[in-house]
Amino acid sequence: MMVCEFKPGLEGIPAAQSGISFVDGQKGLLEYRGIRIEELAEKSNFLETAYLLIWGELPTKEELTAFEEEVRYHRRIKYRIRDMMKSFPESGHPMDALQASAAALGLFYSRRDLHNPVYIRDAVVRLLATIPTMIAAFQLMRKGNDPVRPNDNLDYSANFLYMLTEEEPDPLAAKIFDVCLILHAEHTMNASTFSARVTASTLTDPYAVVASAVGTLGGPLHGGANEEVIQMLENIGSVENVRPYIEDCLQKKAKIMGFGHRVYKVKDPRATILQNLAEQLFAKFGQDKYYDIAQEMERVVAEKLGHKGIYPNVDFYSGLVYRKMEIPTDLFTPIFAIARVAGWLAHWKEQLAENRIFRPTQVYSGLHGMEYTPLNQR
Ligand code: SDX
Repeated sequence: MMVCEFKPGLEGIPAAQSGISFVDGQKGLLEYRGIRIEELAEKSNFLETAYLLIWGELPTKEELTAFEEEVRYHRRIKYRIRDMMKSFPESGHPMDALQASAAALGLFYSRRDLHNPVYIRDAVVRLLATIPTMIAAFQLMRKGNDPVRPNDNLDYSANFLYMLTEEEPDPLAAKIFDVCLILHAEHTMNASTFSARVTASTLTDPYAVVASAVGTLGGPLHGGANEEVIQMLENIGSVENVRPYIEDCLQKKAKIMGFGHRVYKVKDPRATILQNLAEQLFAKFGQDKYYDIAQEMERVVAEKLGHKGIYPNVDFYSGLVYRKMEIPTDLFTPIFAIARVAGWLAHWKEQLAENRIFRPTQVYSGLHGMEYTPLNQR
């Protein structure tokens, strides 16, 4: 058996052969199924992009309409799931509520009929359709309100914003939100996708696959960073405080949230698009003082850490976009999950097509031949 060098974080080790997305970290290039992210952000919508990722090709007009209708039809959640969610503590984090709710879908729909394309499509539709409803339901119920029924007249993104507030969203806000979902839909072998593929490789159900990936996405080194960015901007408070804050982080060797990436050594192309979307929102709905702080952070971090390839990642500007839409900060990562479900499901399908259970090895660094010491002698 070939003995490989141990790489913490499996850095640079391929964990799958995949045709879903591609990143060139030196050039700042991201493609979904060969199409550049900038082009999809400009021309596609989230459900079309999800279809592209999951089934490998852009849908025809008829295929897209049928898919959108199926997702629209399955947006409602069972009252038992709503009742279960009502008993969640209102102080709980929405990512934990989402992980529990996604897993609960398996109680109703798991058949593990993994060779049946009808079951695969049904699971894809159900997960894409119900996850936004569950997040919005938790948001309203934790405030003591009844959840809002999905609005069949609204498309995917507008309906989610409607379910959060009971008001039809501004069209520009809904459009920008939809682009945000495209940007977050997929990103090669990131931690949560790896988690999804490991879980998928055991041939468990897709609800367990998504629940495990949601758990992985929540951490502050991964999707959870978008929430921490806003807290950081709040703590910094003014443009003058930016330089001392960054110098302090560097001195303490603390990570600056929303910066750095395992693959990108230049600015994440998604951060560039998100920054542009934030500016469009500010032009229509007014400036945000945190944006001045963010821009100054980008300048100072480039000056101090640019030589290490540390630039803004996807999580740096997304929070400013959602903040302008008055979305609560702790929903930022669940929104990331709404989008990433598309990528996780694409990897689930790809993993099933040529499955081998994940079973890496380890470098044992413990003891051998130890004796058991009886309890009363310890
Ligand atoms: C996402 O993988 C994906 O594709 C993820 C993602 C996706 O779409 O799925 O893009 C989404 O998770 C974005 C990342 C969100 N996380 C953050 O913003 C948290 C802050 N960033 C980091 O902690 C860090 O950059 C990571 C976790 C994103 C990447 O970590 P690595 O590859 O393990 O790098 P590292 O922590 O070992 O750092 C390497 C060097 C170190 O310096 P040296 O010891 O070599 O001198 O870069 C420095 C680090 O100190 N560094 C940072 C830094 N990130 C790296 N220094 C200060 N602030 C930072 N944010």
